[in-house]
Amino acid sequence: MRLLKRHRTDISVSNARRSESFRTLRHDRYWWHQLGDTDYVPSIYETLLDPEWEILEAWFRETEDHQLVGEINVPAMCLVQGFVSGGGIRRIVQLGHYSGYSSLLIGFMLRRMNAQRGLFSIDIDADATAFTRRWIVRAGLADYVTLHVGDSADPVSIRESRSALGAQPQLVLIDSSHQYGHTLRELDMWSDELPVGALMLLHDTSTFAERWDTKAQGGVGQALAEWVPEHREMSAINLNAFVAPGADANALVYRDACGLAILQRTGRR
Ligand SMILES: C[S@@+](CC[C@H](N)C(=O)[O-])C[C@H]1O[C@@H](n2cnc3c(N)ncnc32)[C@H](O)[C@@H]1O
Repeated sequence: MRLLKRHRTDISVSNARRSESFRTLRHDRYWWHQLGDTDYVPSIYETLLDPEWEILEAWFRETEDHQLVGEINVPAMCLVQGFVSGGGIRRIVQLGHYSGYSSLLIGFMLRRMNAQRGLFSIDIDADATAFTRRWIVRAGLADYVTLHVGDSADPVSIRESRSALGAQPQLVLIDSSHQYGHTLRELDMWSDELPVGALMLLHDTSTFAERWDTKAQGGVGQALAEWVPEHREMSAINLNAFVAPGADANALVYRDACGLAILQRTGRR
């Protein structure tokens, strides 16, 4: 018993130092770790096994060396972890995996839950997908994560996701083009694929994040603002929709200035 207690303390001490160095690193990608009161290891890293954390650390180094930085962030992934791990969600579709950050973290969660073939992830970029696939294999997650190259608004990806997951998704995470028109097509197509109670999360939904829409049509936030009122079958909250350029992330309750929307399919028609 005493041995077990000591072991537990040792683990928590080493876990508690994992992302400590991110607080002082220069790259913008570590912004969350450099906020006023985030001097701790967030749950998405704290809960990893040592070999998983080693993989992720090596992934951070390689993506920085090759300038393949463009991942979602800590607040959003902690929220995803709450839904997946807390809710026992075993069938997930992701639109946009880029170099693999969220795919690795979700893969680690699914492996803990023994949910094989639990993530089907789509990206239009074949090179990014090859890069991500290499890391998924290195992390031993090939049985848990299926990667697909294609347009996330192409109906083919629905068929592919059904065959990979074996059923409709319980969660769809959208972090892809950030274009207004393309987001509308994703919303139409993937909301129809959700059973009652299933969730859809969209990243980059704030006024601040409109900048990612290369046609300056208002991006994900504008698409949602028009789409949600027309779809009574979905309930929605858009966290930080109001956050504009220049906002201080320290002053936000949900710390992600890019915003995140949570949609749920209800039984309404
Ligand atoms: C912000 S990154 C995704 C980051 C990823 N979710 C993560 O956390 O690491 C956006 C990705 O969406 C992909 N993308 C852009 N347009 C797309 C489209 N029409 N269909 C599928 N993927 C697309 C890009 O190739 C890019 O890899």
